[in-house]
Amino acid sequence: MKINTNGTATLQESDRDLDRTAAAALGAAHGWPFYLADLGRLRANIAGLQSALAATVAKREVGYSFKTNYLAAFIAEARACGVAAEVVSELEFDYALDLGYSGSEVVVNGPVKSPAFLARCLRAGAVVNVDSMEELRAVADLRPSGAAQVGIRVPAGVRGARSRFGIDTNDPATRAEVRRMLATRAVQIDGIHCHTAVARSAESFGTRLRTIAETFDSLRPGVRPDFLDVGGGMMSAVPEDIALQLSFPVETYADYAEALGRELHSFYGNDQPRLIVEPGMGLLADTMSLYAPVVSVKRGPSHTVAVVMASVLDVKPLRGAIEPSIRVVRADGGIDSESVEVTGNTCMEIDVLHNALEVTGPPLRAGDILEIRNVGAYSISLRPNFIEPAPAVLALGPEPEVLRPRMTAADFGHLYGRRT
Ligand SMILES: Cc1ncc(COP(=O)(O)O)c(C=O)c1O
Repeated sequence: MKINTNGTATLQESDRDLDRTAAAALGAAHGWPFYLADLGRLRANIAGLQSALAATVAKREVGYSFKTNYLAAFIAEARACGVAAEVVSELEFDYALDLGYSGSEVVVNGPVKSPAFLARCLRAGAVVNVDSMEELRAVADLRPSGAAQVGIRVPAGVRGARSRFGIDTNDPATRAEVRRMLATRAVQIDGIHCHTAVARSAESFGTRLRTIAETFDSLRPGVRPDFLDVGGGMMSAVPEDIALQLSFPVETYADYAEALGRELHSFYGNDQPRLIVEPGMGLLADTMSLYAPVVSVKRGPSHTVAVVMASVLDVKPLRGAIEPSIRVVRADGGIDSESVEVTGNTCMEIDVLHNALEVTGPPLRAGDILEIRNVGAYSISLRPNFIEPAPAVLALGPEPEVLRPRMTAADFGHLYGRRT
């Protein structure tokens, strides 16, 4: 990293973890907090997953889960790497087309698809996974022809876990209707889909693949599906402080590929259907960090609270139980250690970014900068427009590139119907 004369920083891709000077320069230039996005990491994750799958799976397709991160630069990178678009609404479908995807490069999931939207998807040659009998009947009424492929989502994935999504083909009446539709050629079902994030183990991927393969076979005995779509639910590499909080081991792309390849081979031998995977977390979690300064530290007899210029909404808008991985950006030293509650810049009591951050070295003080890692998945897409502007997203590179500008009052007015 080099600090330019105008105070901005020139970053190399190796500068993944900014030092204090670089972070301060970027915060001054682009506003606090800001996200740092690592396109190189996204590229490496995609390449890692593609090559792991290539080693074990004959035909495969990786989908980019749009809702996990809507950054246009990320989606363009994924598309350039041969990754399909995985969308769950008509808005996302249109966004995919706007960003250059053709319909045949899109996998359409989601629980609510109107007949008109289904018709558009089928005409465009997309892969459409229907979620309900109503959608399946709508597809039958549309009598699709051409390149479109239709799959059914089933509430499978992990044995014993229930899901409200998909068509429960274990229900006798539902099963009878699907089979009748197939027998009368009212619909053609080319593939089968499931998704769960209840489990993220490699073993669970073997289970979900086997379950959907068996389900397809029970609907169309002896017919090999065109595709099996096992959804998302993979993990990416995680920092040690997150790994320590997990109740399951961290898996690698090779572990997932091995489990999926083994099941595919045992079910289909060498004549395998196309395998579709749609990882959100698995490709994106470790692609972004958020940088935020501490604005005040309140020390009581038994409790220390740090207030930072960022919100839990920037870091984990769904407020899951896992504490984020936070680094204090400074040269560490000393042996003191203190547990700090890290709180945000909104006026909500629930705005807690970390309940008990162990800070070693000199006591935390106003002006220190925190780097909050692994916020590339479900952060910017789920962050509401609330109190403070949505932060800028900057990219590493020879010059820091603004991938998304910081929100302004004008954007706020646009969103909330200001009349000019
Ligand atoms: C259908 C579908 N595919 C893929 C994903 C991505 O999931 P994850 O981020 O757990 O990989 C989701 C997330 O909800 C989903 O609903």
